[in-house]
Amino acid sequence: MTEHTTTSTDATPDTSARPLRVNAWNGWDPLRHVIVGRAEGTVVQAPEPAVRRDYPEDGFPLGTYGPMPEDMVAEAGEQLDNFAEMLRRRGIRVDRPTPIDFNQQVTTPEWSQDSMFGCMPPRDILLTVGNEVLEATMSYRSRWHEYLAYRPVLQNLFDGDENMRWEAAPKPRLTDASYNTKFWDTYNDLPTEEQLARVRDYDLVLTEAEPLFDAADVARFGKDLFVQLSFVTNRSGYQWLKRHFPDHRVHAVTSTNTHPLHIDATWVPLRPGLVLHCGERLADAELMEFFRLNDWEIIEAVQPASWDHPPKLSFCSPWLAGNMLNIDENTLCIEEKEVRLSEQLSSYGFEIVPVPFRAVGPFGGGLHCATVDIERDGGLQDYFP
Ligand code: NVA
Repeated sequence: MTEHTTTSTDATPDTSARPLRVNAWNGWDPLRHVIVGRAEGTVVQAPEPAVRRDYPEDGFPLGTYGPMPEDMVAEAGEQLDNFAEMLRRRGIRVDRPTPIDFNQQVTTPEWSQDSMFGCMPPRDILLTVGNEVLEATMSYRSRWHEYLAYRPVLQNLFDGDENMRWEAAPKPRLTDASYNTKFWDTYNDLPTEEQLARVRDYDLVLTEAEPLFDAADVARFGKDLFVQLSFVTNRSGYQWLKRHFPDHRVHAVTSTNTHPLHIDATWVPLRPGLVLHCGERLADAELMEFFRLNDWEIIEAVQPASWDHPPKLSFCSPWLAGNMLNIDENTLCIEEKEVRLSEQLSSYGFEIVPVPFRAVGPFGGGLHCATVDIERDGGLQDYFP
């Protein structure tokens, strides 16, 4: 079922001579070029209207902020480096962002925020659709300048691929008008049913004052793009994406998740005809019907191994298990401890590459969050004709 991720004798192919080409339409075509994030410099964010960190047991009670502990940074950094090296050995070109000092104030003429965040989850900020890389608006003040860490990589792509489209969604103002500023005072104390009703009605922390979205709320299935309305993506952000991609069908979706934040642990493309979903968070009926009508099989993910062991300083749920990276439509990178999920998916014919990645979770996610595909073979296809 599995194969080992590293052996010291493997030669690493030289991919630097290959021409640069931005091209990726879905999550499963053969991967040629990818960005892998970095843990260095990540900060537990200072409070802001969109998000509040509160980790009393782990040394960062509400209102406090600062750099992630050095030992956690070192361990996550090593896992990210090993993952990048494993991909390189498979002939995949890997770029990395350039961290800046994230433990500094962010200021615009309208507000200031006491810290930034980091550059671990590149998936949140960059969306590749065909030959375009789009920088998302983001919706946290602490992530307003995060694009800077990716500019060296993007500039290099732009210089090397004359067909690359480099786009950035409108930089948001993020004044108090963009938030229901009292949201976090009460939301976590509401009964689950009430939270789910708020999710269904899209009555969450963001207002509709301006378009806001994170790239990780977009799932790419060729001609169809599915945009999750969430704590970081509003209806206006969905509208912006719909108008920005006029040749695609762009769908807004919700799920029964009380804390929706990024679609890529909830509705996960595996290969044409096969999608994984986190059973606890039923997707909306319309979405499921759309897939079933087109003869897609929907796999309900098994309960993750990390269920009872939330890591320190993490804002991700155990469903992060399903946050995996396709190397191609037969090969999946899955966190090494998620053995039951690996077994479940190998029974569908996938070759599983187990990757040690637990230490990266507190820096913003799993194997999918930690990457952005820049080049995959293949072209635009309609999987829902
Ligand atoms: N926010 C999601 C993870 C997204 C990759 C979760 O906690 O399940």
